[in-house]
Amino acid sequence: MAIESSCDDTSAAIVRDGYVLSNLISTQDVHISYGGVVPELASRAHQVNIIPVVDQAIKRAGISLKEISAVAFTRGPGLMGSLLVGTSFAKGFALALRIPIIEVNHLQAHVLAHFIKKEDGSAILPSFPFLCLLVSGGHTQIIVVHNYYEMEVLGRTIDDAAGEAFDKCGKLMGLPYPSGPFIDKLAASGNKDAFKFARPSVPGLDFSFSGLKTSFLYFLRDRVKENSSFIEENLTNLCASLQNTIISILIEKLVKASELTGIKDVGIAGGVSANSGLRAALKKEGEKRGWNIYIPEFIYTTDNAAMAGIAGYYKYLKGLFASHDISPLARFDI
Ligand code: KG4
Ligand code: ZN
Repeated sequence: MAIESSCDDTSAAIVRDGYVLSNLISTQDVHISYGGVVPELASRAHQVNIIPVVDQAIKRAGISLKEISAVAFTRGPGLMGSLLVGTSFAKGFALALRIPIIEVNHLQAHVLAHFIKKEDGSAILPSFPFLCLLVSGGHTQIIVVHNYYEMEVLGRTIDDAAGEAFDKCGKLMGLPYPSGPFIDKLAASGNKDAFKFARPSVPGLDFSFSGLKTSFLYFLRDRVKENSSFIEENLTNLCASLQNTIISILIEKLVKASELTGIKDVGIAGGVSANSGLRAALKKEGEKRGWNIYIPEFIYTTDNAAMAGIAGYYKYLKGLFASHDISPLARFDI
């Protein structure tokens, strides 16, 4: 069994031999009216949700408690209060069943979502080493995945994450939180070349998105001064142009990473990998450059316990269990 509670989704999954038997996600609506996640409210909601979510995960998997051989939980990175709920629950549950606990790094779990097998054999699992662009609300990294346990970060954002760029710019346009999925939808009927925004010039394989956010803010401020309905009248074009800018920044660095390492197995992971434009751009770039590309199934892109279950499964195979004096880590490198 796996528990994920790093941010604002309470999730539990049952994984057997690399196959997902159930994966329950309870999204917290309490944050919508605040335009972002309120940490204290997130931990309280996790406390309310965790028992029913685990209960449902076990029922839907059709297994008995006796069949559960270990409990994996997200140790970090994430919000401390949220992580504490999942960690404490995992410890109590494991003690009651006298089974081991397994700590999981949330970033590794996003990457290892690529190894979730499918009953019909249709899942294409990456071969090692592969490059993974991890793009979420809190992280933007290019990672070399050597194996299930060892990963190396080649570049990361020096300020905002790609998901934050979507969410913050969305907020400026009056879109609900998290804005990423809304921008994705609206962008589909807009012109990606309608507007141009500042592109960062960051050396190496690092990223920066705070300049784009500022450029977007000033652009909107100036246009709204001239026409107070500018945003409503240009919403789809704004979304398409913004999304296109973020995607081209991401793809440019991914191409650079592939050229530097010579690795042609390339994947994406994390919440922003749900973006239809990014998925299409990776496919196009992959065809052009002869890459083997790996795009996670939509349900395994944003936070979910199934990916923690897969990460836990591979640790289980090696007997990599945690001791009960373990604490969560708000900051936790891959
Ligand atoms: O991985 P995730 O669920 O949580 C973190 O670990 O941060 O990622 C959440 C992020 C949010 O910023 C959200 O706006 C973004 O993923 N996201 C998207 C899409 N779906 C989720 N961004 C762009 N397009 C999407 N379709
Ligand atoms: Zn995440």
